[in-house]
Amino acid sequence: MQPKHEIIICLGSSCFSRGSKNILKTIKTYLNENNLEDEVFFHGQLCMGMCEKGPNMKIDNREFHGVNEENVIGILNDVFH
Ligand code: FES
Repeated sequence: MQPKHEIIICLGSSCFSRGSKNILKTIKTYLNENNLEDEVFFHGQLCMGMCEKGPNMKIDNREFHGVNEENVIGILNDVFH
């Protein structure tokens, strides 16, 4: 099955130092618990060129800024429920 959605988390050094590694873990767990792993192509990317707004994430070409381990769940729920 082709993934229907794409999530990209910025793993560039600025976003990484602001915690994108933990956000990545939270997203992975979320996708697993909600059986979304086949539907979503989830991957990292290097600097997205908007470090000052980070940590940054994209879902299907929508940009999200200032993402953290808490608010990422709400963002995912909005998109996937
Ligand atoms: S490191 Fe994430 S936008 Fe630059």
